[in-house]
Amino acid sequence: MTAVGIDAIEIWTGKLKLDLPNTFAEKKGEDPEKYRKGLGLENSSFPDVYEDIVTMGANAAKRLMERKGLTPEDIGRIDVATESSFDNSKPVSTYIAGCLEQVFDENFHHANKGERKFACVAGTQSIDDAYNWIKAGRHRGRAALVIATDTALYERGDPGEATQGAGAVAMLISEEPSVVELSTEQGYGSADETDFLKPNQQFPSVDGKRSMQVYLARMREALEDFESVAGRTHPDDFEYIPFHTPFPGMVRKAGLLGYRHMIRDTEFEDELEDEIGRQPREAEYDDWDSYEEALRAYMDDLKETEEYQDWYGRVIDPTLSLAREVGNWYTGSVHVARTSALKHAAETGEELTGDRLLVGSYGSGAQAEIHAETVREGWKEEMDELNIDEQLDDRYDMSFDEYELIHDVHDHEKETDVEEFTRPVGEFTFTGWGRMNERK
Ligand code: CAA
Repeated sequence: MTAVGIDAIEIWTGKLKLDLPNTFAEKKGEDPEKYRKGLGLENSSFPDVYEDIVTMGANAAKRLMERKGLTPEDIGRIDVATESSFDNSKPVSTYIAGCLEQVFDENFHHANKGERKFACVAGTQSIDDAYNWIKAGRHRGRAALVIATDTALYERGDPGEATQGAGAVAMLISEEPSVVELSTEQGYGSADETDFLKPNQQFPSVDGKRSMQVYLARMREALEDFESVAGRTHPDDFEYIPFHTPFPGMVRKAGLLGYRHMIRDTEFEDELEDEIGRQPREAEYDDWDSYEEALRAYMDDLKETEEYQDWYGRVIDPTLSLAREVGNWYTGSVHVARTSALKHAAETGEELTGDRLLVGSYGSGAQAEIHAETVREGWKEEMDELNIDEQLDDRYDMSFDEYELIHDVHDHEKETDVEEFTRPVGEFTFTGWGRMNERK
């Protein structure tokens, strides 16, 4: 059977950065360690005044197409995943295709275009759509361009403000891919939830603490559903486990939950018994609260074990290095996490071809999706082509006042006059809301 999966990845960060432990924490009067250790963030990326979801997505896609020697004729489908859309009718993919047509001097009239929305899980859903389209044989030999692009902004003063971010991930989905092959092993956890939503509003209404519980509950369901297809999982089955990363502290919790789930009823759980006891079983408790309390105590002990810390350091921590520098990119976040892990492996000389990844995507509202991928032979060459480190180094480090001004610029409700800036040559830039199509 022909392998289908991710053939190429490009990451495009917003050109500004906010230093969280210093600039942000100082102004908020908070301990820098809350950001560095608690949330796990050093910096977040912001869009400059001439950037938006279209320019970031188009710039990522342009670099990907040029690097792979592609023209619009090679692409049969452009799907954009975003929760920052500004148009309730025209999909963002049409704006991005319009930009790309200017550069490649060829049109995308033959390409199917769409916009996927289910909060942050929509990037993964778009990959699924592309996979199914190719597997169904409707692609006529063409590849799909999937672009996850977001400006993840919160109301100023909202607890989520510390976890903002902006950037785009462009991915080429094709037959015989270079980076990873997608498998049919997939599981879901989905429920109607209202902890994070944006009904006709730009900035989300968030119940932050509840949103973390919902993330973990849906992720556990998705893992159980995945196991119903793929069989029992074991922590050592996967080289890396990239999760949706709203902030690395969230993934610390998801990693522990996954590990605890995977070791239950194994010989390894028996081996750990002398050290930390056995996992509590729900049936052993009279009520849910006492079961939860016992489980929490077990997890606290588990996370201190040498075995867990070693596993976390190998399998989860390498997925977080880019997120620590860029914050939450919503739909792009889990794809940034996969890239972080592969990039880390390339830099440390690991050989990954044939190894498996378990990818945990999540979208508020809420749905978790877990699937397995197998790393393909061309993964390292693809990682060597990334220029994300240079992009991160080139970001302009904002003062707090500049941050507030930029936040206002991107607030659709505010008219903010910013005349002084330099647009980079050769990139798509945004020239104003009144001139929607003027992206050069
Ligand atoms: N030193 C070390 N650690 C510290 C510290 C210090 N001085 N001060 C605080 N911390 C730790 C806290 O103990 C906490 O860690 P634990 O959760 O492990 O205990 C962590 O830092 C954060 O501190 P708080 O809980 O006090 O932070 P907060 O209440 O100000 O904000 C938040 C946290 C509620 C998650 C907020 O960032 C938020 O609302 N974020 C947006 C919603 C979100 O991202 N939810 C995630 C799940 S939903 C999702 O994933 C979809 C999506 O993309 C949005």
